[in-house]
Amino acid sequence: MGITINVNGKARSAEVDPDTPLLWVLRDQLGVLGPKYGCGVGLCGACTVHVDGTPVRACSTPVEAVGGGQVVTIEGVGQSEVGARVQKAWMELDVAQCGYCQPGQIMSATALLTANPAPTDEDIDAAMGGNLCRCATYVRIRAAIKRAAGQSQEA
Ligand code: FES
Repeated sequence: MGITINVNGKARSAEVDPDTPLLWVLRDQLGVLGPKYGCGVGLCGACTVHVDGTPVRACSTPVEAVGGGQVVTIEGVGQSEVGARVQKAWMELDVAQCGYCQPGQIMSATALLTANPAPTDEDIDAAMGGNLCRCATYVRIRAAIKRAAGQSQEA
């Protein structure tokens, strides 16, 4: 079946079953490779993208659920002022180690700071708790979120 979704500001079409996970459509059909496959069951956050600004796990979101929503991935998040600020802070503090989970981390951090420009440690824990990092870069992630929020922190 043909579907059309909006990805990073462009209408993109694919021939897939409507219950195909959004992550499969992005990566395998549309060549959008920033969102990563980790667990496949909504538990690690590596596949996190935004749908209308809300972070969702693309591995466990059927593409039909996206409807006319605006999908934004790591490839497009820098087009927003907050997303660009988050990416800059990530680079300044060298957050990434292996890097695999970082697209999902940045998507969750951007959604957090868009909704809450001055998050507390508890707010950060609540928003980022579903994004796992096998390299344990959590201290730098927290510092980068605070830097992006204008609460300058060293790593
Ligand atoms: Fe989607 Fe782990 S791959 S949450």
